[in-house]
Amino acid sequence: MNTASRADVTAVILVAAGSGQRLGYGMPKAKVPLGGDSILTHALRGVAAAGIARQICVAIPPGDPELRAQCEAFEAELQAEHRRTAGSGEGVQLPAVTVVDGGSSRAESVRAALSALLPGMQAVLVHDAARALAPEAVFHRVAAALAAGAVAVIPVMPVVDTIKTVDPSLGADADIAPEVVTGTAPREMLRAVQTPQGFDLATLRRAHEAAAEYDNAREAAVTDDAMLVEQLGVPVYAVRGASQSLKITTPLDLILAEGLLEGPLGARWVEG
Ligand code: C5P
Repeated sequence: MNTASRADVTAVILVAAGSGQRLGYGMPKAKVPLGGDSILTHALRGVAAAGIARQICVAIPPGDPELRAQCEAFEAELQAEHRRTAGSGEGVQLPAVTVVDGGSSRAESVRAALSALLPGMQAVLVHDAARALAPEAVFHRVAAALAAGAVAVIPVMPVVDTIKTVDPSLGADADIAPEVVTGTAPREMLRAVQTPQGFDLATLRRAHEAAAEYDNAREAAVTDDAMLVEQLGVPVYAVRGASQSLKITTPLDLILAEGLLEGPLGARWVEG
């Protein structure tokens, strides 16, 4: 099956229900302004520009009217663009936009979105709204690996820092330093993981059903979807990510994201 034909049976889940505490804006991160629009609006435009989905399902903080309105405005923007290009041959597939209330953890937000996908979907990409500038090319690489037969695929970047392990439970000598190193991970075998992560839908549903029983501590440790699928023993493939897919988490990340939008590279979908 080629990538184009899979778009009809592919959904994108955009998780945007986080609190954004580390960004320190006093509002959910998805609402934070970036280049004149919100982080959520940039993320939605990036997903739509990739043209790989029949449905975009957004998990927002429960009952947030402003973010719901932003999703509705975005859908209207898509429809207006679709009407403008109708008949010209340049019109891309128009995805349905669905909004759900997210949960108290990222995994719960993903589960809420999974339960609102349209019938007939076979594949799903799960994307963090916080990676609002992920280029189109990354969506295409993930979708292409799914179309080529992968059940799970993630975008990754090589690690530039040397990574040490520590064991906070061991404690160090407080008079010397707060932590002590327990080892050095071999850098050539390490990858930094990004989103969108792509999955066969039935497999991701099975992985999340297994995780629904986790206690709070274990649930909080679920930082991506691929780790749940790994626990089913399913091979997870890795494609090249992009430095523009940075996860906007701290005030410095926001400055970098603003710089990417304003800089010579301009739009988010430029490959990097
Ligand atoms: O908190 P973290 O930075 O890992 O969040 C990654 C993504 O998951 C963000 O886009 C955030 O909005 C989303 N999230 C969510 N529901 C939560 C927590 C995080 O949708 N309860």
